[in-house]
Amino acid sequence: MKIQLTPPVAGARILGLGSMQPDTVITNHDLEKRVETNDAWIQSRVGIIERRFGSAEDSVVSMGVDAGSKALADAGVSPTDLDAVIVATCTMSKPIPNAAAQTADRIGVNGIGAFDVNTACAGFCYGVGMAGDMIRSGTARHVLVIGSEKLSDWLDMDDRSTCIIFADGAGAAVIGPATTEDEVGVGPVVWGAAGDLVSTIHIDETDALRQEGQAVFRWATTKIAPVALRAVEAAGLTPADIDVLVPHQANLRIVEAIAKRLRQAGARDDLRVADDIQYSGNTSSASIPMAIDHMRGAGRARSGDVALLIGFGAGLSYAGQVVVLP
Ligand code: UT7
Repeated sequence: MKIQLTPPVAGARILGLGSMQPDTVITNHDLEKRVETNDAWIQSRVGIIERRFGSAEDSVVSMGVDAGSKALADAGVSPTDLDAVIVATCTMSKPIPNAAAQTADRIGVNGIGAFDVNTACAGFCYGVGMAGDMIRSGTARHVLVIGSEKLSDWLDMDDRSTCIIFADGAGAAVIGPATTEDEVGVGPVVWGAAGDLVSTIHIDETDALRQEGQAVFRWATTKIAPVALRAVEAAGLTPADIDVLVPHQANLRIVEAIAKRLRQAGARDDLRVADDIQYSGNTSSASIPMAIDHMRGAGRARSGDVALLIGFGAGLSYAGQVVVLP
């Protein structure tokens, strides 16, 4: 007896992108009325000018459906051509049911693989890694990867160390097959976890998100750039080949520290670095696809650009890969 497998393809590539942000804008001045903080501190220490919070009608699923549908339209792929939906999220209101099955149904497709990934702010890059390998091995031809978060549901609005940082939104990518080696647009994922640091970001007994900001800041500014460089090496490239750097939008100072380390390792001065946190806040697994989509909209990222993605957050978890933008 011989078990038959679907023939593998050369690799995977991103076919389309989409994102959504809820309507309600929360400025730093709005937060000044709630906690002892100020616009100057938030802008200089975190880099956020404003962020969006969802309404009662916005959910992880509804925001994911919106971003996912836009990504499908951008890719020119019909929902019925999908073989799987992966939703990266850590903010579902309940552990069951998951987000992905409902999201697939509301996008217009049933009977396909649908599952959630919870690696917090690293989730989108974990999802892209899995989707890329599923496609390369022939398990799937088209996979929709969504990062969707409603962090406002999990915030203590009297805790100034978290309520000023986190926000809501969703971003998505459609990933499909690359039939030739020249078409391959998703590099190998480099991922990992530091479970020994688990307590530094957690949900407490009151269901509020807490973090030891300084400890996470130290970890992110020292451990993440080397992971990003490993992802570049795994793709057979050098830092000078990267056009666009899209780190998880945790804190603009962390983003700048990662960019500095990459330039020291040979990245170009004209490397375009995502700074989407300024107007989106920290949206966990949504931040990377949302940042790319906004950079594309602003003309700062173009089709064919080589982008380095690097996610990191609770777990602690991290993952990154090089992709070619659609
Ligand atoms: O996305 C998941 C991964 N998460 C991260 O990567 C987050 C990493 N950590 C951070 O981004 C930063 O640590 C924070 C933004 C959370 C905090 O910034 P910080 O520069 O590390 O501030 P700090 O905790 O060291 O506090 C510095 C000062 C303190 O005052 P004193 O003791 O020096 O007088 C704080 O009490 O700033 C004060 N402070 C604030 N002041 C105004 C802390 N939070 C605030 C605030 N507004 N919201």
